[in-house]
Amino acid sequence: MTIYAANKPQLPAAITSGQALLEVHDIAVVYDDAMQAISDVSLRVPAGTITSLVGANGAGKTTTLRAISNLLIALRGRVTAGRICFDGQDVARLRPSQLVRQGLVQVLEGRHCFPHLTVEENLLTGATARGSTPRESREDLQRVYRIFPRLRERRSSRSGLTSGGEQQMVAIGRALMTRPRLLILDEPSMGLAPLVVRDIFEVLRALNAKEGLSILIAEQNSTLALRYADHIVVVENGRDVLAGSAKDIRENHNLERFYLGEAALTLADPDTKIDPSGSAGISTHGE
Ligand SMILES: Nc1ncnc2c1ncn2[C@@H]1O[C@H](COP(=O)(O)OP(=O)(O)O)[C@@H](O)[C@H]1O
Ligand SMILES: [Mg+2]
Repeated sequence: MTIYAANKPQLPAAITSGQALLEVHDIAVVYDDAMQAISDVSLRVPAGTITSLVGANGAGKTTTLRAISNLLIALRGRVTAGRICFDGQDVARLRPSQLVRQGLVQVLEGRHCFPHLTVEENLLTGATARGSTPRESREDLQRVYRIFPRLRERRSSRSGLTSGGEQQMVAIGRALMTRPRLLILDEPSMGLAPLVVRDIFEVLRALNAKEGLSILIAEQNSTLALRYADHIVVVENGRDVLAGSAKDIRENHNLERFYLGEAALTLADPDTKIDPSGSAGISTHGE
C-alpha cells in the first residue's frame, strides 16, 4: 500500500511558516528524456535545521539532491516540472559553482576525494571553489582540523590511501572549507563502520547546534535520520509520501515501521540490533 502526496498529513505550522532557506516545490526529473526518476517531490529546509530525505534504494534521493545543486545536466537529466529556491533564488539560474559561492554545497554520494592528492590538498580544493584568500584558507583549514582532529594527523597522506571514514571526513571538510550556509550530504553513512558513522553524525549535529548550519541529509538508514534530524521527508518511487517532524514520526511507531521498516534493515547503526533469525527483529534504543 502506498499513500501518495495528496494524502500527506499537513506539516506543522513551525515547518511551513515563513520562507525556508531551501524550498523544493513539486519537482519532476527525467533522465535521457525518457526515464522518469522523480514525479513529484517537495521538501523544505528551514534555516538552522537538519532535514533528512529518507527512502529506499532507487526512491529518488540522489536525483532530488542533484536537482537542488543543479548537477543534472552533466548526467543528461533535467527538471521537467516544479521549482527549487535557495535563499529565495531559483537554482536553475545558477551554475553549481555559483551555488557553492552562495553557500550551498553538496557532499556527493560515495565521497569523491581526489585520491592522488593529500588530505590537505583535497581540503584546499574547497577553498579554491569558494575563492578564499590565502588567509581565509589557513583559518578554515585550522577550523576543519579542530572539527576532525584525525585529518590533521593524516594531512600529508594521499587521500586514496586513507580509510573510508577518513575519506568521508575529507569530503565533509572540503565542503566546510567553502563556508556553507546549507550543507547537503548524500548517504554519508554508506559503507562505513557504525562507530565512524556515529562520529560523523555527531559532528554534523554539533555544527548545527553550535553554528546554526542548515543541513539536508539523504539517508537510507532511517534510524539515523530519525535520531539526528529535526524534520523528515520520506520519498518512495519518486514521490514524497510523508513529511513531518522527526519527533512526531518517532513517536508514531506504526508509521515508522510502515514507511521506514524496509530501509531500517540496511542499518549501519551501533544501537540497532538486527535479529539474525528474520527480517522482523529490528530494535532500537528506547523501544
Ligand atoms: N544517471 C541516471 N540515468 C538514468 N537513470 C537514473 C540515473 N540516476 C538515477 N537514475 C534512476 O532514477 C531513479 C532514482 O534513483 P536515485 O535518485 O539514484 O535514487 P536513490 O538515491 O534514492 O537511491 C532510479 O530508478 C534510478 O535507476
Ligand atoms: Mg542515492
